[in-house]
Amino acid sequence: MTTTIAVSGGKGGVGKTTIAVNLASWLARNGRQTLLVDADFGMANSHILCGLKTEETVEKFLKQSEPLEGLIHKLPWGLDLLAGGTSSVELLNLKPEQRGNFIRSLKPVTKSYDYVVVDVAAGASDSSLEFCAACEKLLVVIMGEPTSFMDAYSLTKSANLDFGLEHFGVVVNQTSSKKQAEALFKKFQTITQKFLTVDQRFIGYLPASDLVRKSIVARLPIMSSKKATLEESCFTSIAVEIDRLQSNKFDGLKVY
Ligand SMILES: Nc1ncnc2c1ncn2[C@@H]1O[C@H](COP(=O)(O)OP(=O)(O)OP(=O)(O)O)[C@@H](O)[C@H]1O
Ligand SMILES: [Mg+2]
Repeated sequence: MTTTIAVSGGKGGVGKTTIAVNLASWLARNGRQTLLVDADFGMANSHILCGLKTEETVEKFLKQSEPLEGLIHKLPWGLDLLAGGTSSVELLNLKPEQRGNFIRSLKPVTKSYDYVVVDVAAGASDSSLEFCAACEKLLVVIMGEPTSFMDAYSLTKSANLDFGLEHFGVVVNQTSSKKQAEALFKKFQTITQKFLTVDQRFIGYLPASDLVRKSIVARLPIMSSKKATLEESCFTSIAVEIDRLQSNKFDGLKVY
């Protein structure tokens, strides 16, 4: 069975790609067949964090109808990656039919994987929400800033009211400790629960860390550094909690 996970967040720069790349890499390193899909079309950068320079991206599927299977890259640490394409205005403004076609074509490809992690573009656009709704499990990445809370609330509201999603896993990024992360989650949950009836669960956290920053500059997953034991343990916990998180959908990728 395949578990599909969308990594979203209302605000740009909160750490969606960092979490998606490192979560997918952790899963692959720990024996799970894993595919990372960069759905931040046109502004994609998962491949950069994975040290990959390539023209083989979803752009070739969308523009030249190349099969998705042939565009999947096999990374040295066992992770498979479908890169999202960069610097293309056309990719940034895909039509709903094109997005639907992509999600529909992705479904058979995902069948051979244990996990599919989707790096979703920032915000609560139709495009972002369609990918959130296409996956069984939804992660919302937040940071301890009012703007991040506000945008994550807007995303949660649209996902709930417009797409009927009820279960939200929250990952708190760039904190000083687990305790601080839990306190920020509680604060965010209190704000959200005033207005929405949704199931929100604390999935984990990632500290603000020089090792994370260095891994991004080195274009390698964090676990490539032997020193990153705390960061790696954070992803171990996140992976465990994801398995406990209730699914929004029970039949994998769906097309809206
Ligand atoms: N845990 C962390 N510790 C230190 N720095 C971090 C951490 N997480 C993210 N960053 C910093 O924040 C930057 C943005 O992270 P990232 O690209 O993952 O965000 P994003 O939400 O995917 O952004 P976008 O909305 O542009 O796609 C990184 O380049 C890095 O400098
Ligand atoms: Mg990103």
